Amino acid sequence: MNFIQKSIFITVMLLMIVSCGNDKKEVSGPPTVKKVDPEMTIKEGKGIGEIKHVELNDPLDPEMVKRGKSIYELKCAACHKLSGARVVGPSWAGITTRRKPEWILNMITNVDMMLEKDPSAQKLLEECLTRMPNQNVSIGDARDLLEFMYQNDADNAGK
Ligand code: HEC
Repeated sequence: MNFIQKSIFITVMLLMIVSCGNDKKEVSGPPTVKKVDPEMTIKEGKGIGEIKHVELNDPLDPEMVKRGKSIYELKCAACHKLSGARVVGPSWAGITTRRKPEWILNMITNVDMMLEKDPSAQKLLEECLTRMPNQNVSIGDARDLLEFMYQNDADNAGK
């Protein structure tokens, strides 16, 4: 092999190593979503998505409420009010009594599939005539938002 052939050979080997590395990364990622029976979770009023069970805090965690509130103001307030009537999306007043916590978290983190498969979400879409956009909210952020919703309902009840 002359010098050019050698360099080409080395380059090709390097590329193969790099691309193999990438493949490996995909395979060894975090464990994927566990198997669920969507029909079942929909029937239970928990919606469809990764969240199957939520432990609620009693009393509420003030730090989570605070974080939830700022996420709400940043990403949700344009379409959801905390009391009163619907704007673009439904008001959040009373949402924690209308819906199971699992349903709410699945609606936030898996909205496209919820609108496709969950009858209660579809009913909302019929009423609101706007699709809630997927805003890539993490499960942790969604959990903070849920805490804030419980606080909001407690505040509303006190009024
Ligand atoms: C562009 C407007 C818009 C934004 C922004 C938005 N939503 Fe929505 N949301 C909607 C609409 C509209 C619906 C009703 C379902 C539909 O039509 O898609 C809805 C429904 C919901 C519901 C179910 C309400 C119920 O009464 O059961 C929850 C929970 C919810 N959104 C959470 C959020 C959260 C959390 C955020 C912020 C991260 C957010 N939404 C941001 C428009 C929006």
